Amino acid sequence: MSYSDSDSKTVDPKRRRMLVASTAGVGVVGAAAFAAPLLASWMPSARALNAGAPVDVNISKIEPGQLLRVIWQGKPVWIVSRSQEMLDALESNEKLLADPNCSVTAQQPEYARNATRSRKPEILVTVGICTHLGCSPTYIPDFGDASMGADWKGGFYCPCHGSRFDMSGRVFKNVPAPTNLLVPPYYYKSDDLILVGESGGKA
Ligand code: FES
Repeated sequence: MSYSDSDSKTVDPKRRRMLVASTAGVGVVGAAAFAAPLLASWMPSARALNAGAPVDVNISKIEPGQLLRVIWQGKPVWIVSRSQEMLDALESNEKLLADPNCSVTAQQPEYARNATRSRKPEILVTVGICTHLGCSPTYIPDFGDASMGADWKGGFYCPCHGSRFDMSGRVFKNVPAPTNLLVPPYYYKSDDLILVGESGGKA
C-alpha cells in the first residue's frame, strides 16, 4: 500500500465494519504476554476483509505500555498506548535510526510524519508486519530488556532476521528492514474510538 496510489476513500462506507467492543483482556504488556494467544474477538467476514472495510477500535481500556491487535485488510494492526517514559525516550534513539524523520513518505500519512508517527503522541497505530520480508515483529516494551541490551528503550524486534524498530515503528540502522513500519490511514471518531482504514474526519 502506498499513500500515493491507494486510499480508503474507495471503500463503500456502508460496508460492514468491525467493532472491537472492548479492549479488556486484549491489551497485553511485555513480550511474554504478547506471545500469549489473544482472546477471541468478533472478526469481520472474509468478504469484508477482502474489501478492506475500515475497522472501529475502542481504545478506552488500553493502558500505557499495552498493545491491542486488530485485523484490517487481512493484516495485523497494532494500537499501542505509549507511556510518558516511552515518549520521552524517542529522541534519544534518533541517531541510531535509518529514517527518524519519516522521509519515506509512503510509510505513513502526512499527519503521522512526525517523531511519534501518530495523530496523538500517546497512541501509535501501525501495521505489525516487518518491512523486510513480512514476518511479524515481537513487541518488547521493557527498557533494557535482557534480550535487547541495556540501551533498549522499548520497541519491536523481528525474529526472522533481526530487524529492530523503536516505539514509533522507526527502523534502526544496519538491519535488513529497509523502511519504518507502515502507519495505516486512521482517525479519531471520538477520544475512545479510532477508525482504522480511513483518514477522513477530525483528528
Ligand atoms: S522479515 Fe523481519 S527482518 Fe527479515
